[in-house]
Amino acid sequence: MNENSYETIEVRREGRVGVITLNRPKALNALNEQTMQDVVAAATELDRDSGIGALILAGSEKAFAAGADIKEMSGKSASDMYHEDFFAGWDAFARLRTPKIAAVAGYALGGGCELAMMCDLILAADTAVFGQPEIALGVIPGMGGTQRLTRAVGKAKAMDMILTGRQMRAEEAERSGLVSRVVAADELMDTALEVAGKIAEMSKPAAQHAVETVNAAYESGLWAGVQHERRVFHGLFSTADQKEGMSAFAEKRTARFSHE
Ligand code: CAA
Repeated sequence: MNENSYETIEVRREGRVGVITLNRPKALNALNEQTMQDVVAAATELDRDSGIGALILAGSEKAFAAGADIKEMSGKSASDMYHEDFFAGWDAFARLRTPKIAAVAGYALGGGCELAMMCDLILAADTAVFGQPEIALGVIPGMGGTQRLTRAVGKAKAMDMILTGRQMRAEEAERSGLVSRVVAADELMDTALEVAGKIAEMSKPAAQHAVETVNAAYESGLWAGVQHERRVFHGLFSTADQKEGMSAFAEKRTARFSHE
């Protein structure tokens, strides 16, 4: 697929960084089926490209994404939702191995908050607002929010947000561990490119294994996670980048990674 032929997103490359920008401004980037297909297709292509070492997912100034598209799903039955396995397509995005950064300004509500949490780290503009308002629609989060938000901010805040629909502003989100940094809105993309650029300079296999192994901390008990980490650490000694990285340190020079 040509990178500029998507209907709901824009895709560009900045050196070794792939940038995907949600682009449904009239619907505040609400996530419909087409958006899911576009994001997954573009991100999968970038993920497989050895010339790309990190991804950024961004929205607009007003909204990262205001949730799943309510108008698209409102008339569906439980049977439709089950047969379509609604939202399951997003799992392919969550499972990508290239480090991915959500650059969030404005509303990240419902599926927007959940999509940001599928990324490996979240950078927020001081305008960012996170929330899971599904309870007010008579449902609950359906793209991982009950699980990822609880792990990110703990049970007390997750219950508060999911049961009342209370929104969390950027400063509280940083304090609570949901986002890694908060910056001025006009610095968000520069900061995201700087962080993504830094990650993309590193050995790609090392960064991919780091993502997988940190994520294992979410998905397994402590002992299983520590064992997984050790096996991955051992395995990385088969890469050219490990030899180069450690030789460069001993030789007091900057490593030149081949990303292999
Ligand atoms: N789905 C579909 N359309 C949406 C949308 C959504 N989630 N969010 C906003 N829009 C549309 C609005 O309907 C409106 O379209 P029209 O101009 O055609 O009426 C347009 O985007 C602009 O929105 P508003 O006029 O409402 O803008 P605002 O500035 O007054 O309010 C807002 C902004 C507070 C974010 C408000 O739009 C809002 O509350 N949106 C819904 C948020 C929400 O409930 N998200 C959860 C969705 S369910 C979900 O995500 C399930 C899941 O777990 C995955």
